[in-house]
Amino acid sequence: MIQQLFYTPFYEDTIELDSEEHKTIRNFILDEESKSDWRVPEEWLCEMNSSFVPNKKYHHHQVFKSLVKKIHTHVYKFIDNDDFVSEHLEMNELWLNTYRKGHSQERHDHGSCFLSGNYFFDIPKNTGDVILYHPLSNKVIDGWAPYAGKVKSETGKLILFPSYLYHAVERNHTDNVRITISFNYQRINRS
Ligand SMILES: [Fe+2]
Repeated sequence: MIQQLFYTPFYEDTIELDSEEHKTIRNFILDEESKSDWRVPEEWLCEMNSSFVPNKKYHHHQVFKSLVKKIHTHVYKFIDNDDFVSEHLEMNELWLNTYRKGHSQERHDHGSCFLSGNYFFDIPKNTGDVILYHPLSNKVIDGWAPYAGKVKSETGKLILFPSYLYHAVERNHTDNVRITISFNYQRINRS
């Protein structure tokens, strides 16, 4: 009998925003980006625009209140389906990203966080997909498992995954801006 011992949980769904809310958030993000204090940490070996250094606490901002609530609902659907059912989680970081022509993000994980995700807020055609890597892709796994897989980036799509999962964003070769919202959850002890 052949058994599958380990697996990587991965969640994909959509969150639809009405046009008014989408417009409000889009204008907010582009306005924040234009203030020019966005920087990426030195260890990020990529060219992109991100609020990560000056501000990764946008989950406390009123403009994201409704979206964050919807993300929470999906997160709890995700963890209720597996062994993490007894855990309590809280969103501890949320930051904004824009990928303009030539921008991409190299392979990375989200370090010591527990659960991470990405909301594909505004994804014009051909502005880049997300690549997910097999957790053992640093080792030789040829012949045992695919090295990597692609998640099609489409406006409104939400993806959730364990923070240890390596991922990357393909280069945007177009003149259109790709806008995403990234976030992390940490475990909390309610006792
Ligand atoms: Fe990431």
